[in-house]
Amino acid sequence: MLTDDQKHAFARDGYLVLPGFKSAAEIAAVRARAGEIVDAFDPAARAIFSTTDQAKHTDDYFLGSGDKIRCFFEEEAFDAHGALRQPKALSINKIGHALHDLDPVFDAFSRDPKLASVAADVGLARPQIWQSMYIFKQPGIGGEVRWHQDATFFETDPITVTTFWFALEDADRSNGCLWIEPGGHHGPLRERFVREGDATHIEKLDATPWPGDATAVPVEVRAGTLVLLHGRLPHYSAPNRSRVSRHAYTLHITDGSATYAAHNWLQRGDDMPVRGF
Ligand code: FE2
Repeated sequence: MLTDDQKHAFARDGYLVLPGFKSAAEIAAVRARAGEIVDAFDPAARAIFSTTDQAKHTDDYFLGSGDKIRCFFEEEAFDAHGALRQPKALSINKIGHALHDLDPVFDAFSRDPKLASVAADVGLARPQIWQSMYIFKQPGIGGEVRWHQDATFFETDPITVTTFWFALEDADRSNGCLWIEPGGHHGPLRERFVREGDATHIEKLDATPWPGDATAVPVEVRAGTLVLLHGRLPHYSAPNRSRVSRHAYTLHITDGSATYAAHNWLQRGDDMPVRGF
């Protein structure tokens, strides 16, 4: 699937942009399905997702979502009185984290044979799809996701996690596209997100600072683009203050030949073991 040049570019830069990977029909199918899931969601099961204060907002609702389909609100979805500031469908931050295993539409999107081929090309010999997220990045209130490395959340020894990020809408600087540090995956893993029972905390592993604005590069892409990110590549996305949403879908995939850390928040039981393609 990938050319030698693309494989070399991914090894060198820690990311790869593949425009036109998904068709308009495939995108329409998952967008429609996400809309149905949100329609069926009862906002009383309220939970806010924030990475600016990860530990504070991490709760049972989040920790129990690894083998479920759950909706998470934007941090700014509610006013001071606890009422939604805009309609429910424009207030959800994301749906996670087992869409790929539990929903037939997302299963088909996620287990596309082309994806299996790309995974093999980037060295995932025994791919294991741990997590899927449908990210809305809602107009006006879509929250920022600060600098981080995805291996912080999906640690293996050695590090193998690769992020598959699908643009379901055009993403640019105005609506909160990804920003990355090209080549930054050659640096160390800075943080580890540790789960101990029902509690989580961030452990500092390395004092290397996050990249500055001068080295961050925006990844502006059209709908249908697949962006691959190495697990150690620093990346972030800014808030979406525009009037349009920025839907994306992500998969986090590790290599089963590496040891998956027992402290990772997302574990699977024997009733629903992690699977590949
Ligand atoms: Fe990430």
